[in-house]
Amino acid sequence: MTKGPLATRRAGSGDDLRRSVRLFRSFLTEQTDPVGFYSLIAEDAVTLMSRHTTLAGKSVIDFGGGPGFYSEAFARHGARSVVVDADHAEITSHRRHPLSVQALAEAAPFGEGSVDIVFSSNLLEHVPDLPAVADRMASAVRPGGLVVLSYTAWLGPWGGHETSPWHYFGGHRAARRYARKHGKAPKNVFGESMYAASVAEGLRWARQSTTLELLEARPRYLPPWSRFLLRVPVVREFLTWNLWLVLRRVGNDRDTAEPKWGN
Ligand SMILES: C[S@@+](CC[C@H](N)C(=O)[O-])C[C@H]1O[C@@H](n2cnc3c(N)ncnc32)[C@H](O)[C@@H]1O
Repeated sequence: MTKGPLATRRAGSGDDLRRSVRLFRSFLTEQTDPVGFYSLIAEDAVTLMSRHTTLAGKSVIDFGGGPGFYSEAFARHGARSVVVDADHAEITSHRRHPLSVQALAEAAPFGEGSVDIVFSSNLLEHVPDLPAVADRMASAVRPGGLVVLSYTAWLGPWGGHETSPWHYFGGHRAARRYARKHGKAPKNVFGESMYAASVAEGLRWARQSTTLELLEARPRYLPPWSRFLLRVPVVREFLTWNLWLVLRRVGNDRDTAEPKWGN
């Protein structure tokens, strides 16, 4: 290992902890200050990505990007980014109108290898076949480009989203309880728009890929030293919260891809 990264990690361990505390505290303000919350978490994602790539001049697809907070952060750092999201209401929520394509990630109109970076935050727990959708999204990246996927683990404390922590007693039961208490169905319905995504299946998908090299896997919101959790079956499902994966498409590198929507 080179001296630089090691020295940075040692010097930064207090910062890492403060970062995690800041992120977890910001989760409490998601409802009252969504713009502040999503802007913070998007900028944090850019910081995590900066270990592997710069964004300036890159083309990015933000799958499941909804109102585009991540895309906006990517653009602030010089990237051209487009949101691909299945739900028009999500794209236009918070009165935002990002450059977007309304489409399912698994059926998005992008050719193979058409962009530099494929990004997806918190989409994969909303699809029934995580590896298939991850494969489809990853296919849009050029050789040498990055695939950054992150999703909420079902057995984590926030696995049931707004039905948490009752999801520990079963997703359907948690949904029924939510409906009784709030007089309406939860936004994320287990078995319909939210599934039991495990850390194990994400890691298995990443490690088994023959077209992608795994560069980093870590619990997204926790300090980097928490990576060891991913080596502990069962425990990792409960403590990871959100799995962050960074992969590189193998093959002959090109500098940047010219996206179909670019000019
Ligand atoms: C929990 S939100 C995540 C929003 C944002 N990426 C974030 O991390 O805050 C999940 C988003 O994924 C979208 N989505 C769910 N399933 C999808 C699919 N199969 N294809 C495209 N978008 C999907 C939803 O419409 C929603 O905007």
